[in-house]
Amino acid sequence: MIAKALGRLLALLGAALVLYLAVVLVNVTIAAVSTSTAKPSRGAAAPPSSRVLARGRQIFRFDTFGDQAFWGSALQLHRAIAGSKNGGVGPGVSPKTALSVGLKVDATRIPTSVAAAIKAGKVNLNDPKVTLTLLKLNAVVGVRGFFRGNRLTSMGITCAFCHSTVDNSFAPGIGRRRDGWPNRDLNVGAIVGLAPNKKPITGLLQVDEATVNKVLASWGPGKFDAELFLDGKAFRPDGKSAATLIPAAFGLDGINLHTYTGWGSVPYWNAFVANLEMHGIGNFDDDRLSNAKQFPVAARAGFAHVRNKRDLITSKLGPLHLYQLSLPVPHSKRFNRAAARRGKAIFNGKGRCANCHMPPAFSDAGWNLHTGEEICTDNFQSSRSPTFRYRTTPLRGIVAKTKGGFYHDGRYPTLRAVVDHYDSCFKLGLSSREKTELVEYLRGR
Ligand code: HEC
Ligand code: HEC
Repeated sequence: MIAKALGRLLALLGAALVLYLAVVLVNVTIAAVSTSTAKPSRGAAAPPSSRVLARGRQIFRFDTFGDQAFWGSALQLHRAIAGSKNGGVGPGVSPKTALSVGLKVDATRIPTSVAAAIKAGKVNLNDPKVTLTLLKLNAVVGVRGFFRGNRLTSMGITCAFCHSTVDNSFAPGIGRRRDGWPNRDLNVGAIVGLAPNKKPITGLLQVDEATVNKVLASWGPGKFDAELFLDGKAFRPDGKSAATLIPAAFGLDGINLHTYTGWGSVPYWNAFVANLEMHGIGNFDDDRLSNAKQFPVAARAGFAHVRNKRDLITSKLGPLHLYQLSLPVPHSKRFNRAAARRGKAIFNGKGRCANCHMPPAFSDAGWNLHTGEEICTDNFQSSRSPTFRYRTTPLRGIVAKTKGGFYHDGRYPTLRAVVDHYDSCFKLGLSSREKTELVEYLRGR
């Protein structure tokens, strides 16, 4: 009896501590970013205030940019989540199913009493109704539910859907948010595949539903194909999926071009994603997308010039940009320091890695693009971009990118495989020991 009561009390205290620590950490981070001793002179640009960063964080985590018009109204995804017993269709999505397709739960949004009940095994994680409760608490990372009473009437997604994970501190898939970490567990294709109405996708791509289902099933965890809705190419020439790994949204400061194939700057890509991929409501210009030869789908759909009277995106690009640049880069402490020191010398010297991956950002300073030939790789993905190049991937925070492999499509399962690739590509003649040292250096970035 006493032991049980004590256990419950400890669980409650633990949950309260988690909440407290989360609040303190967030405040400390914001304070640290916004600390500035110099007062801006009259007329000079003010440094980003904690208010702007807090707004950026709010947008990154919670803003759908009105995309519920697509995910809810058009695809009807909310009805598949609710299930027929709760006013939707089909079996519904239980918390267990949601976690199994990689969705994450923000533990700090769960009231302590509910947290204790979960810990005590008193919450049925096989019941879609519990998913609705989590959505109502705004606890499902990157997914917003819209309710009338207890009825789920629509849903939308936010940047955090793909670019955040949690630290699993409460349970696997449940913990404190890690903004900017790529969610390499998230099976975007499986989630979109649940949509009761796929007409918006079959219409856009001009293919039948069976084809759309096949494509969505081919992506797998941690991947999404941002170019599919532009060029309609779903598979590489070798028959494998054309989807790319979800990249980190941290560690991008000081870097010119972004995405695996260098589409543009961070604000460019944020506007691109919010309008064309999330299907938010805004304005967007990129005349390169009117090239019907390279981008038949985008040209047909008028993606080169998107106009909406109501713009829920453009005014948010500034704070969103600043927030992304302020995201801390995680560093692993679990690597061999002595080996990494020798690895650093190889990275900067014999390995020629720093020719492109220039510290501290680990991408080229300047125009950071290369042809497939320069790194002994094929040009399938680069030719899906208006640059026809690959962008030198920034290497910081490797600890957050260990799942799903390396290079844009995860073709190299380990860092050692990447190093082996460069060893043969550049005829470096690295010994096995030198390769290990190089890997240890990368593991600590
Ligand atoms: C459905 C998943 C998904 C969502 C939602 C999403 N992204 Fe991404 N993001 C990706 C993928 C995949 C790429 C890589 C695209 C490529 O290289 O072709 C990417 C690339 C990026 C990059 C470039 C990273 C780099 O290494 O240069 C940034 C920055 C980014 N996203 C920010 C955002 C922001 C901000 C939002 C919200 C407005 C957002 N993303 C929404 C999947 C997503
Ligand atoms: C000529 C420029 C160039 C040189 C030299 C170069 N890289 Fe790269 N690196 C790239 C490009 C471009 C990519 C992106 C390839 C892709 O995604 O398909 C990349 C990707 C990587 C990745 C994958 C990162 C990820 O998250 O997917 C690693 C790791 C890496 N390089 C390490 C190295 C090491 C180690 C060396 C030295 C042995 C090196 N690179 C030399 C341009 C270069």
